Amino acid sequence: MSTEDFKRAAAEAALAYVEPGMKLGLGTGSTAAHFIELLGAKVAEGLDVSGVPTSEASRELAERHGVPLTTLKDTPELDLTVDGADEIDGRLNLIKGGGAALLREKIVAFASKRMIVIADASKRVERLGAFPLPIEVVPFGKESTRRAIERLARDLGLGSDVAIRRAEDECPVVTDSGHVILDARLGLIDDPERLSVELNRIPGVVEHGLFLRLASLAIVADQNGVKTIEP
Ligand code: A5P
Repeated sequence: MSTEDFKRAAAEAALAYVEPGMKLGLGTGSTAAHFIELLGAKVAEGLDVSGVPTSEASRELAERHGVPLTTLKDTPELDLTVDGADEIDGRLNLIKGGGAALLREKIVAFASKRMIVIADASKRVERLGAFPLPIEVVPFGKESTRRAIERLARDLGLGSDVAIRRAEDECPVVTDSGHVILDARLGLIDDPERLSVELNRIPGVVEHGLFLRLASLAIVADQNGVKTIEP
């Protein structure tokens, strides 16, 4: 079995938590894409749900698979968000944003009564930080913001290699909300709570990919099957 099979198995297991009438947050990335596809199949069989997508890519995917959509304007409170992650620690703190959708993902997860994270087991880590932390910043002053983050990382005793994410054409990646992404190679993070607070104090930082105390269940899959983890 491949990693893609494990992602799909985790996504399939998450369907068990979806109840008729639920308003859902629809995540972004390859694992969340499996969930959206599988949800579309359930909708075709008669399941009555609607979803708020966390990216334009997920919106297009949901439309293609017939998942009814709503917005946070019309549905400000959601029942359940199902999303992937780049890293998951034992307390279900996450690093997200590898797909550059972290801002909408965090807004949607925060607006949800519950967040379930789905992943192949390679995403489970003891401590967050091997995956570079994505940080969404406004384009104005991005070089100053980048340096401010490097300074903060040094002050906290973390690695301080912070780079603007670029597309294949070398242009900065622009998010769905018109911002740019900095990828911070910080090394293992001892105190994600403090880092989160300090990052949010830097002018120019819109959001960062540390999702702390948002997920209440992780569903991870590997060759041994599907396992649920609670914090
Ligand atoms: C999107 O911005 C991310 O937060 C994704 O949820 C994360 O990168 C996981 O993606 P995969 O499911 O593709 O690994």
